Order: sequence, then structure tokens, then C-alpha cells
Amino acid sequence: MIKPHGADTLKPLYVADAAARAALAAEAETLPSVVVSSAAAGNAVMLAAGYFTPLNGYMNLADSLAVAEKLHTTDGLFWPVPIVNMLKDVSAIQGASRIALRDPNVEGNPVLAVMDVTAIEEASEQQVRLMAEKIFGTLDEKHPGVSVFLGAGRFLVSGPIQVLNYSYFPQEFPDTFRTAQQIRDEIAERGWKKVVAFQTRNPMHRAHEELCRMAQERLGADGIVIHMLLGKLKEGDIPADVRDACIRKMVELYFPPNTVMITGYGFDMLYAGPREAVLHAIFRQNMGANYLIVGRDHAGVGDYYGPFDAQTIFDEHVPAGALQIEIFRADNTAYSKKLNCVVMMREAPDHTPDDFITLSGTKVRQMLGQGIAPPPEFSRPEVAKILMDYYQVLDAGK
Ligand code: ADX
Repeated sequence: MIKPHGADTLKPLYVADAAARAALAAEAETLPSVVVSSAAAGNAVMLAAGYFTPLNGYMNLADSLAVAEKLHTTDGLFWPVPIVNMLKDVSAIQGASRIALRDPNVEGNPVLAVMDVTAIEEASEQQVRLMAEKIFGTLDEKHPGVSVFLGAGRFLVSGPIQVLNYSYFPQEFPDTFRTAQQIRDEIAERGWKKVVAFQTRNPMHRAHEELCRMAQERLGADGIVIHMLLGKLKEGDIPADVRDACIRKMVELYFPPNTVMITGYGFDMLYAGPREAVLHAIFRQNMGANYLIVGRDHAGVGDYYGPFDAQTIFDEHVPAGALQIEIFRADNTAYSKKLNCVVMMREAPDHTPDDFITLSGTKVRQMLGQGIAPPPEFSRPEVAKILMDYYQVLDAGK
């Protein structure tokens, strides 16, 4: 199987031994503690689950700046997005060498991780803005990732962590949440040798579905791992349980058995477009995928990124050999009325825009809210039904 990033074996930071975990949980209650941001909690869950191998905790300021500016840590590890624990107020942990990190997303703020603090550094306003600009390509606070990053606080608390749990993800998504090791194990059990990963934060429409099928066929892959984001999204995006139901229905009805794994990971969406695509590639390599599908406006939002910036970053900023996983590049994909199937637009050069069935996100949202199913060429009827039910309950509550 493909090796993890920068290591021979996965380095999950979850304390797997029950006795050690209980001892650590007891110790944590005696330590100075702080409630971390949702972004930092997501980082802890990803570190715990082995997705962020080979990191052993949160980056310090020098590494964060190096990663933001040069996509490498000061030690030369290739990494595209700073993995940070940024706080506004560090008074409760000032001077402490070992602290407990509390979970902002679970009632009562239980301890998520124990950290050996190597540094508490205050980044300057200018340094925080520089990092945001590099990661997101903009400083516009209307960008949902930028506003979260700039609002997180300027103290970087860095050092190795040991993680006690996976936050709310296993309880809320028992069938879908997986660690990187669990996915590797399942790939091995299924006997898959060549695996394609599909990143998604949406219910899967026909374009998404066919993209997976095209990638599998063209790459000669044994299977597809749909790996959906289960953490927080911007307002208006569809919640994970609804997306999960849509994806399960689509796979059940439209894919042959034993060709798709439906899985998810506990992380908030960054909307960092190209940089996030590279992070996506790293953690898909860590979970054992050989390819990641990167299509149009991958991990994008609004008009902040060019439609294929998340592909070209792999040519321009990922040094040869830095990653073992490869990218399956997809062009804009839509249903062709001429050919009666979903195609990549670049492969239908004789088509005019009118030959494709395309609908804007806003239009689809409007239709679903009014109980009108989008055409079956755009959305499978069974998927549309789940979405219509969701929007009708949502709109009735307004
Ligand atoms: S993302 O933020 O997780 O990337 P989404 O779930 O919509 O958003 O997309 C998942 C993947 O499908 C991404 O690689 C994206 O580029 C690709 N994709 C979605 N729709 C299309 C489309 N119509 N044409 C080409 N690629 C697409």
C-alpha cells in the first residue's frame, strides 16, 4: 500500500491503550486547561486519526510562517497549511509546560488532548495577515476561511499532543467517521490495490457521481473511497447527516457492490481552494489512496480562485517526489443533451453551452426549497427527494 506522507508508518496521536488513556484523562483534570477554537479541535482530531502524519502536534510560529510562505516546515517537510492552535487569551496556561486542551464543540468542554507546550508565541498582526494571505490567497473578511483565521487570536500555542478522543464525530457519524488507519485496514480487507479518493462537502449530484465513475474506469482502480467532510461549514451549506444520507442512497442504487467505501473525516472546511487541495492530497495519501480527484473549483468558495487553480498548484508548488499520491484532474463536468451522458466539457469540443444541462447552486437551492426536483440528468431523483425533504423542513422553521 502507498506509504504515509513523510513517514514509513502512520503516526496517529490518539492514545489507543485504554489504561494509558484513562491515566492521561485523570492527569488532564489536574492540568491548567484552555478551550481551543473549533479549527484547532479539528486539527487535533486529524492528528489523532493519523491523517496529519508525520506531524506530532501544533506548529510553532516559525514553522507556520515557513509553511504559509514556502509550503515547507523549517525542517524541510512538505506541508501546505499551518496546523496551529491559535488563541486569543492564554492567561490560564501562561508558564505551564503541560496543559489540557478542551473541546469547544462538545457540551461541557471535555478534554480533547493533553499538550506538552514548547512555546507560546504572540504573532504580530502583520504575521497573521501574511499567513492568511498565503493560505487563502485573499484577506477579504467575507471569505469564510479568512474570517475564521483572522478571528482566532494571535497566540500560537505549539508542541506535541496526545489525543483522548475524536470529539463528536464517532457519536454523530458512527457509520461514516473513520480514522486513516481504519480506511487503510478496510482497503486491505477488500483487497483493493489501486484506490481513488473523492473529497466532498456536498450531496453528490450526477456530475460528482460520474466523476467518480470516470476516475475509476480511466485509472483502472479497484475502488473509490468517498471521503466526506463531517466538520463545520459556512452557513447555507448542507449539513453532514443530510449529505451522508444522499451519498448512501446514490451508492446503494447506482454503484456495483464492493466498489465504493463511504467514509468521512472530522475537520472544519477551510475553503482554501488550492492550498486545501494539497492538504487533501496529503491526508488521502495517509489513508491509503493512490489518487485524489480534483475537479473544478475544488475546496473553493465564491470567486476567490480560478476554476482549476487547485490543479495547477500541483504543477507549480508541489516539488517532484514530495507526494506519492497522484491527482486525477477533472474538467468541468455536466450532462450533455447531445450525447445523453455526463461528460467532461473539454472532451466535447463540438458542444455549445446550450448542449449541457447546468444549474447554478442558487437555482438548485431554490428549486429544492420549492419542492421541485432538479432534472434527473442533474440530480438522481432519490437524492433530490432527500434534499427536498431537508429544505422543506428547514424553510418551514424559518
Ligand atoms: S469541495 O469543496 O469538497 O471540493 P464539492 O463537494 O462540490 O466541493 O466537490 C467535490 C469534488 O468534485 C471536487 O474535486 C470538485 O472540484 C469536483 N466537482 C464538483 N462539481 C464538479 C463539476 N461540475 N465539474 C468538475 N468537477 C466538479
